[in-house]
Amino acid sequence: MSERSILITGGAGFIGSHVVRRFVTKYPQYRIVNLDALTYAGNLENLRDIEDAPNYSFVKADICDAEAVAKVFKENAIDGVIHLAAESHVDRSITDPLSFVRTNVFGTVTLLNAAKDAWKDRMGSAPLPGRGGGGEVRFYHVSTDEVYGSLHDDSLFLETTPYDPQSPYSASKASSDHFVRAYGNTYKLPFVLSNCSNNYGSHHFPEKLIPLMINNIRNNKPLPVYGKGENVRDWLWVEDHAAAIDVIFHTGKNGETYNIGGHNEWKNIDLVHLLCSIMDKKLGRIEGESAKLITYVTDRAGHDLRYAIDASKIERELGWKPSITFEVGLERTVDWYLANTEWLDHVTSGAYQEYYTDHYAQR
Ligand code: NAD
Ligand code: TYD
Repeated sequence: MSERSILITGGAGFIGSHVVRRFVTKYPQYRIVNLDALTYAGNLENLRDIEDAPNYSFVKADICDAEAVAKVFKENAIDGVIHLAAESHVDRSITDPLSFVRTNVFGTVTLLNAAKDAWKDRMGSAPLPGRGGGGEVRFYHVSTDEVYGSLHDDSLFLETTPYDPQSPYSASKASSDHFVRAYGNTYKLPFVLSNCSNNYGSHHFPEKLIPLMINNIRNNKPLPVYGKGENVRDWLWVEDHAAAIDVIFHTGKNGETYNIGGHNEWKNIDLVHLLCSIMDKKLGRIEGESAKLITYVTDRAGHDLRYAIDASKIERELGWKPSITFEVGLERTVDWYLANTEWLDHVTSGAYQEYYTDHYAQR
């Protein structure tokens, strides 16, 4: 495999840190530049194990800062981008939509401009052998299944499902997806795009359902279930998402979109019960003790009922499928949090306490 210089944005976050780790360790011939603004969700502790690798470097910068982004492209001769940096939490998008427009829309377009300018003589060129038809440069945009909206029957999201975003978060991600395709059409920027379902695994910030519940069970705090707990999410182990990103980046077809999912739908309340039961065993509690912490709270505004992905295209065309079952993945995840309580305590200190108190006091 040839040398490449790849910019990964948002690499200090949850999914980004798994993608950075995978690329740094699996492809020693690549230079991996991680650009991240280190917001509340970004944490260099997530990458301690690989930070000294000779093919890895970190740049603290905001994707909205055109000058800083252009400098990174130039100084590192970037020829591939895997773009994950984003504001990612639906609840925060409800209280502060403009931050989502700024990073997810303005930031993505700033990055697209930098790629377009840096690659102006290399776009639209013939695909190189072994690169899946992606050309010699490639912009990979990582997106979410939430752009498709909310399912109210038993159908699944396909790549052809019309966009129908329902939250400020998903509206901002949908907008960024449209910009990526528009740059492909207008400027011939070589791109690939993927829309993935809910991820879970290590290093997940405990504002999201699974790590929040694990942390609260551990601390004997109430487990806030929104509404009746009947909303359904399709959960995928984060390392399987990183593997899918690897496959798409290398062999996905130029201009194509791939849906990624776990074939693994769970009602929130059933998932919380499962977590309680796993943690009762791990913590030596009597079965049923943690479930007593479950507290139904006011529903999220405009709460999407169900997400579920049809991931047959990526399986059929690129040979990717999830590698482990939910039972195995969830057990590994709980074990990681229990072995890394320092990480949990660190990321939930300071500003998190304020967020948590304000957010849940209103429910
Ligand atoms: P995250 O919130 O854990 O991490 C986001 C990272 O982006 C953080 O490191 C943060 O510091 C960085 N960042 C935020 N704003 C920035 C800015 N302006 N400039 C530079 N860096 C900035 O998010 P995540 O859950 O790891 O999600 C990563 C990507 O994957 C996002 O684009 C998200 O939309 C997408 N996605 C997430 C899921 C999921 O279940 N978490 C599912 C599908 C798609
Ligand atoms: P979340 O992890 O925020 O992901 P998303 O909203 O992007 O799917 O939430 C997953 C589901 O869990 C969603 O239906 C909202 C619900 N939820 C709760 O019931 N309680 C909570 O404290 C949180 C954070 C989420």
